[in-house]
Amino acid sequence: MANSSELELPTDPKWEISRTRVKLGNPLGEGCFGQVFRAEVTGINMDGAVKILKNDASNQDLLVLVSLMEMMKIIGKHENIINLLGACTQGGPLYVLMEYAAKGCGHKWPTLTPPLAEQQLTCKDVVSCAYQVAQGMDYLASQKYIHRVLAAKNVLVTEDNVIKIADFGLAHYLCNIEYCSRTTNGWLPVKWMAPESLFDQVYTHQSDVWSFRVLLWEIFTLGGSPYPGIPPEDLHKLLQEGYQMDKPANCTHDLYVIMWQCWHAVPS
Ligand code: ADE
Repeated sequence: MANSSELELPTDPKWEISRTRVKLGNPLGEGCFGQVFRAEVTGINMDGAVKILKNDASNQDLLVLVSLMEMMKIIGKHENIINLLGACTQGGPLYVLMEYAAKGCGHKWPTLTPPLAEQQLTCKDVVSCAYQVAQGMDYLASQKYIHRVLAAKNVLVTEDNVIKIADFGLAHYLCNIEYCSRTTNGWLPVKWMAPESLFDQVYTHQSDVWSFRVLLWEIFTLGGSPYPGIPPEDLHKLLQEGYQMDKPANCTHDLYVIMWQCWHAVPS
């Protein structure tokens, strides 16, 4: 396997950050090809995170990380997405620097605000969370971008409770095994997939809306696991029969109607 740091990358002056300005901190997470660390960047008045390749990464993995970076440049900035801060492409491994979200990912919602009873997460907080995801997704759609793997685990929360969609720009490159079956950490991607994605591998803005509906369910159950007790192999049949998850206890009738509207059998 080639050492990816041996490959020369072109410099993009608009985004290049000198490596000497970047100080890596604690690890934040690990995906199938990369890892994320906390990062301090001198001269940037903002907390940062940096995505880098694992030690055994191949040239193919490097291309995925480069593509992610280029996708983030093209998509541009929005408050409700994780924005690119810059990159170190010269004199060492590729660092893709992005905004840091201190409260981590949204599928840990119930533990975000310890203990819930003290903090009293209001209905307004929960709706705000859903609204911010919708704003972020609306922006991505306006940039003609299809997320494909929208789920609470791909949504990050900042210190100030700003909700930011992460891991866009990656889905196209990830292998089917990662996204179509049980992943190593027990996440079941099929539960977020629209029927047309599941049956025909068709991904559109409409299939993102379907995933948004599953995410709404996660939000209103404060981090519940969708289709509780239903094994993934039963999902095909249930969806074909038009099965809908019940209204979460915390969700108003009006909001449940919105969930329904995101879940039409016919995407259009
Ligand atoms: N985990 C993965 N990416 C992250 C980020 N940008 N901020 C905080 N945690 C993360």
